[in-house]
Amino acid sequence: MAQNVLYTNPIDLAKDFAQFWHDNVEHQKVFEGFSENTISNFHLPFGLAPNFVINGKGYAIPMVIEESSVVAACSHAAKFWAERGGFKTSIINTTKVGHVHFLFEGEPHEMEAAFRRMRPALLEAVKDLTANMENRGGGIKDLFLKDKTKDIPNYYQLEGQFDTVDSMGANFINSILEAWSEVLMHSIQEDSSLNESSRDAEVIMSILSNYTPDCRVRAEVSCSVDDLGHFKQGEISPEQFAKRFAYAVAMAECDPYRATTHNKGIMNGIDAVILATGNDFRAVEAGAHAYAARNGQYSSLTHCSVEDGQFRFFIELPLAIGTVGGLTKLHPLAKKSLEILGQPSAEELMQIVATVGLAQNFGAVKALTTSGIQAGHMKMHLTNILNSLKATTQQTEAAVEYFQDKVVSHSAVRAYLLEQGNG
Ligand code: MEV
Repeated sequence: MAQNVLYTNPIDLAKDFAQFWHDNVEHQKVFEGFSENTISNFHLPFGLAPNFVINGKGYAIPMVIEESSVVAACSHAAKFWAERGGFKTSIINTTKVGHVHFLFEGEPHEMEAAFRRMRPALLEAVKDLTANMENRGGGIKDLFLKDKTKDIPNYYQLEGQFDTVDSMGANFINSILEAWSEVLMHSIQEDSSLNESSRDAEVIMSILSNYTPDCRVRAEVSCSVDDLGHFKQGEISPEQFAKRFAYAVAMAECDPYRATTHNKGIMNGIDAVILATGNDFRAVEAGAHAYAARNGQYSSLTHCSVEDGQFRFFIELPLAIGTVGGLTKLHPLAKKSLEILGQPSAEELMQIVATVGLAQNFGAVKALTTSGIQAGHMKMHLTNILNSLKATTQQTEAAVEYFQDKVVSHSAVRAYLLEQGNG
């Protein structure tokens, strides 16, 4: 086995990493259980973004993120919009999908007829799996055959559409799909209405899709242009700001280079809440970016209009997330996040997450189109450097004052501290 150069034996490695273990043995066991070959925990800051008003209700939103300025930008944007009526959100739909991907040798019309014959058996076969979900108000919404033979010869899908209520539903959907794949194979092999030569099918895979355009949410803010106020110490009027902001969003709508960075900023906010609530940020990322490219060109997830003196800014995106199951109740901090949010349903959490994405984007685009982002970033950068150089609170306060009109760099801050120490 290859040895890690830093650790000549596994005991040294375990000892070194043990310093990051959780003091609470029970918690540590839980964290280790989430993955395999766990040797420690990887810590990220857990912050709160207050000031959010969503559909008239106030929230302080938990966010887990290592990037400085994100939580601050979100809270500022939330405060700005709380003073202008808050965020308005709505659920567009909550349908999730999954597929059995398979090959069938016969003609498409034969497969269609065979599917019609086997459909009742497919639904019957998963009754036990769906009973619980149906009691909670969800279950299978639809099941149909998709002919994909124009893309790949003999390629078909069984598409299931599901409502998984408050759970993300991955296990539920995947279990049903795997059960369907067996019924499908059996039904085709035993279907005497099919030609002998057509009774040859092969399931390639059965898996949910992380592209969920029909599990979608919208969040919006609006106010009169006059209400936007002045920016950059009064240099930028409300009209100029609205114009510059709308241009910035339009640029992200038409240019994939800008759209990628623009949406990355949105995901700064979204992923932070997704992580804090124990949801799957990779699934959310994949779905959001696929949606952003749904018209054939990658584009902005947010949109802005300035019409008849009214400023409107909104986001629409798919979010397949849950507030029960998975890590949501297992991870002690995910559990706390959901407590802080007042035990939301999955639909309420979708609206909270979309709002944070919109707030983050508003904060980023506002900074970019007014003062630029470096001013804010440099302040945080200075604090990080001062922390790494173990500056005292007094030294930190003095340094923040001193560097207000100076370029921040590691060497400049170190030189400043040395000079102060000698003085
Ligand atoms: C940085 O993490 C995010 C931004 O680049 C987003 C944007 O450009 O809109 C500031």
